[in-house]
Amino acid sequence: MAAVDLEQRPRRLRTTPAIRRLVSEHRLHAADLVLPMFVKEGIETPIDLTTMPGVRQHTLDSLVAAAKEAVAAGVGGLMLFGIPSLRDAEGSQADAPDGILNRAISALAEAVGDETVIMADLCLDEFTDHGHCGVLDDAGVVDNDATLERYASMALAQARAGASVLGLSGMMDGQVAHVRAALDAYGFIDVVILAYAAKFSSAFYGPFREAVESQLKGDRRTYQQDAANGREAGREVRLDIEQGADIVMVKPGMPYLDVLADISAHVDVPVWSYQISGEYAMIELAAAAGAIERWPAIIESLLGFKRAGADVILTYWATEVAQSLTGGTGTRVPRTSED
Ligand code: PBG
Repeated sequence: MAAVDLEQRPRRLRTTPAIRRLVSEHRLHAADLVLPMFVKEGIETPIDLTTMPGVRQHTLDSLVAAAKEAVAAGVGGLMLFGIPSLRDAEGSQADAPDGILNRAISALAEAVGDETVIMADLCLDEFTDHGHCGVLDDAGVVDNDATLERYASMALAQARAGASVLGLSGMMDGQVAHVRAALDAYGFIDVVILAYAAKFSSAFYGPFREAVESQLKGDRRTYQQDAANGREAGREVRLDIEQGADIVMVKPGMPYLDVLADISAHVDVPVWSYQISGEYAMIELAAAAGAIERWPAIIESLLGFKRAGADVILTYWATEVAQSLTGGTGTRVPRTSED
């Protein structure tokens, strides 16, 4: 049959893996991936999480081993979360120098601090017995300004322990300015603030609550954003940048790619996103049930973040994906998302 006279044939650029690779607009790089990690106080062996197959609560030793593996694969950085044995109303283990998170920061800074970037979650929810991201007032409401003091103290403890990026994920008003001032007052002028600027109240944090054994009853709707509000995310980002945020984050990822795309098009600081626990669980559990193909789904999900403008993605698959991109050597080898 004679060819129809078509002026445009987009399929021409899709005919072979080689040409698809050549015209690919976005690529994943190991260095653009950050691995979130959990360390739990007082355990002898790591504990596998049931809602996040492949993710575990680490001991200090297994944490260091997993960090070395991630670094060898070329991941860009590590984001640490701690699960303390003791919790109280103030979250006192958060800024205790020998608190589990601060000890883990030191251990990683010593083991891999020269080769990668050590980051820590700066929030109280893992440390409070009520599970909220801040301290409560007499009425049981999260007290914004009292919480800022706790964050400042926590920031200093993390900086002293050796963290070079602090992930401010508590969504208190003024937290970036307050933490920046505390860091600067004590000479930590080069410690980077990663502001979870647009952090939405989300059902997709579910598996994370198992990972950190959260004692939260209720929700975080008085401080995290409402899923209905995209414009408000822009306001949060603007305020955080005005207060000195070095990097801004949109979180969760997949349900908020529109917000990510909008923000990355309008700001001049790096824009990161977090593919959170529920996003991870959805793909792992759907793949385990035979509903979707695991690896293509992982890569497709990560390319979605890139397309939407994420410079860096926090993902629990960071090590595995980095290994696939670098052959496990940490050095970029020519592979495509189809390999
Ligand atoms: C707060 C924090 C949370 C996550 C990262 N930092 C929990 C929350 O806000 O409820 C969630 C990460 C994930 O779900 O993977 N410490």
